[in-house]
Parts: sequence; structure tokens; C-alpha cells
Amino acid sequence: MQDTRVGFGSKIGGILAAAGSAVGLGNIWRFPYETGNHGGAAFILVYLGCVLFLGLPIMVAEFSIGRSSKASTGKSFSVLAPGTQWKWVGYLGVLTGFLILGYYSVVAGWTLEYILEAGINGFANNRPEDFVVSFQSFSQNPWKPLFWLIVFLLMTHYIIVKGVKNGIEKSSKIMMPLLFIIVIVLAICSITLPNSQKGLEFLFNPDFSKLNSSVFLSALGQAFFSLSLGMGCLSTYASYFGKDAKLGNTAVSVATIDTLVAILGGVIIFPAAFSVGIQPDAGPSLIFITLPNVFQQAFSGIPILAYIFSVSFYVLLALAALTSTISMHEVSTAFLNEKYGMSRGRAAKIVTAGCIVIGVISSLSLGVMQDYTLFGKGIFDALDFVTAKIMLPLGGMLISIFVGWYLDKSRVKNEFTNYGKMKLGLFNVYIFILKYVSPLAISAIFIKELNLI
Ligand code: TRP
Repeated sequence: MQDTRVGFGSKIGGILAAAGSAVGLGNIWRFPYETGNHGGAAFILVYLGCVLFLGLPIMVAEFSIGRSSKASTGKSFSVLAPGTQWKWVGYLGVLTGFLILGYYSVVAGWTLEYILEAGINGFANNRPEDFVVSFQSFSQNPWKPLFWLIVFLLMTHYIIVKGVKNGIEKSSKIMMPLLFIIVIVLAICSITLPNSQKGLEFLFNPDFSKLNSSVFLSALGQAFFSLSLGMGCLSTYASYFGKDAKLGNTAVSVATIDTLVAILGGVIIFPAAFSVGIQPDAGPSLIFITLPNVFQQAFSGIPILAYIFSVSFYVLLALAALTSTISMHEVSTAFLNEKYGMSRGRAAKIVTAGCIVIGVISSLSLGVMQDYTLFGKGIFDALDFVTAKIMLPLGGMLISIFVGWYLDKSRVKNEFTNYGKMKLGLFNVYIFILKYVSPLAISAIFIKELNLI
């Protein structure tokens, strides 16, 4: 019965799709501004700790849930724990992914505007202050960002409708290698700029006095966001993995690729910013205001390089974003398809339409709807805060508890060892982290940083 379910055609296809989900705006847009806001290298160290000790084990746990249930996250808990309340963890995941996709697509849409702007050489001859004005007037414009948001969601929709193998897997196999090439070339260009030293120091030389109180929640949220964890996105992809996929190895590959791209994103951005004396803590607009300016100034003697650098950078962002939006879309589409028996096409249409609504509201909240707030923040920022800093870590904690405490040990072991074909290796460490470390660490961070007591 289970063999009729479509899956990825190859192991490498599965790895690239999962890496495609992980590598996204989180690496090149969110990671640099979070790093910039929290003082650089010291933040990165805390972040790496979160990836290694919480991210990796939770990723393996998600993979196990997906592959052993052969269902997307919205249904997998009902398959593995029938008749229990665990199903709510799956539903929470579907809701989280849907909300993230809504506001994420807004930023993804911006990348298309910037490709166009860079492509028609619209950045040349701008003065530094012009970039601020043009970003603000663009992002606050009631129409233009909505247009790009819809275009981006339709591109995502198109790939999703083509299916798991011909859509998701095939597009990842083309886009991911392209993305690696662009990241590496841009990073090399950036470190050859004069004064790039300062940027590298900011990234790699920790100053622990810069660690302020919100750093742990931010690093934790960033780790979940960047690795696509805590909502069953990777567990949904794992439901398409073959029996021979090695879950531990795949998790190590995905986390390594994701971390490398984030660090290389920093290597592209900070040396370039410092080389022209721009401060790195500009926040979410960093890559849209600071960078185009940086590119023009850094390569001011060689305009053709500035041109190529700018266009490739925004193409890179768009590619990275697309492989991620696909993965979030898939979670909701597969849920409607499996739970309510809708065709993929119909399910995808509903998801796309719903995301357009959330996206439009988030986008307008940066302009004409600025005065509407949730938890004291604009709607866009509130969505980012609630999903990345609360819902994902909470989902991750529940997933850890589910696999660590509830799920039958022999099933967990079988997934870990591919039915005894591989050694148990770090199995005990893995279970110890899921049972104790991750629930305690995540609760402690919540209690401290959300002032729960
Ligand atoms: N990880 C992606 C990024 O870094 C975004 C993403 C895709 C995501 N799927 C997710 C974030 C699931 C959280 C949960 O841009």
C-alpha cells in the first residue's frame, strides 16, 4: 500500500529538496540582520550551539516522524498516535507554516522588484540616501509589493502543482547548484574589497560583552527558522524519502549546508558593508537599503561589476526564497490533500489564495495599515515574532517530547538505524537530548525571555 505514495526519485534529490527548504531568506536576509542587531560573532556562537545541540536532533526526530508515518505533518501525528491529542501538534505546524509563508512571500516578492531594478541598472548613480527613500516608497506603496507577492506565490504554486518529483525535486536540483555557485562567487568578490577585514572580524571575532538578554531567544528562533524546523516542514519532506535515506547523515548534510550558506551570506554582506563604512545593524531592511548602496560604492571604479554583483545577489535571494516557499506550501497542500481528499491542484489553489490574503495584510501593514498593531507591533513584525520566536520553538519542543517520550522506542530506533542496517552510534545521545535537553532548554529560554514568571 505504502509504495503507491509518490516520493523523491533519488537520495540526492531528497537532500537537495530539504536543503532547499532550509536555505532561504532566513540565511541571507534574516541571519545577517539578527547577527548585526546582536553584535556579531558572539551571537553566531550561540546560534551554532542551538543548531548543533537542538537543531540536529530535532531534525532527525522530524525526519523519523515523516518517514515512519508516510504522511505529511498534519496527518502524521494521527497516524502515529491515533485517538490522542497529539494531532494538535500537526495542526499547529500547518498553521505556523501557513502564517510564515504569508509574510515570507512579501519579502520574497521584494527580491523580484530588486532583480528588475538592478537589471535595468536603476541603482547606478544613486546617492546613499536615495536607497532609503526608494526602499521606503516601494515597500510602503499599496500596489507594487502586492503585485510581486502574488507573482511569487504563483511561481510557488506552479511548481507545487507539478508534484513532488517533477516539481519540488526537479526544481531543487536545478536551483540549489546555481545558488551555491552564486554564493561562493559573491563571497570571494566581497572579501577582496578594501577594508573587508573589519567585516570579517565582526563575523568571526566574538565580543561577549555584546551578548544582551534577548540573544538566546533570537538565536533559538533563528536556528529553527533557518533549519525549517518546528512545524513539520522537513517531516513532510521526509515522508517522501526512500527507505535507504540515512536520516542522521541527511540531517548533518542539511544543517551543514544551511549553516555554510548563512555564514557565507554574512561574508558577502559584512565585509562589503564595512568596506564602505556602513553599520551592520540596519535591521530587516539591511539587504534592501544597505546592500545596493554598498555594491555601487564598493565597485564604483568598475560599474559593470557593480551591475553583475547586484543582479546576481537578488537572483540568489529569489532562488533561495523559492525553494523555501515551495516547502512551506507543500505542508498545507499535502494536508488538505491527505486529510480532506482534495486533489493537489485544488488544495494548492486554496493554500495560494489564503497566503495571498495573509501576504497582502502583512505587506500593507508596512505602509497604509501601519496603525493596526498586534502585541504592540505592526502585523508584519508581529507575525515574524510569534511564528519564529514562539510557535517554532514550541513546536520543536513538542516534537522532541513526542519522539523522546511517547513514540515506541523500537520504531524510533528503526528509523535511526534504517531497520538495523546502520549502527546505533549516537542513538543514546539523541534520545537524551530529545527527552531532557531540548524541552528544558527551550522552556528555560521561554521563561526567561518572555518574562513568563
Ligand atoms: N528555512 C527557510 C529560510 O531559511 C524558511 C522556511 C522554510 C521555514 N520552511 C520553513 C521556516 C519551515 C520555518 C519553518 O528561509
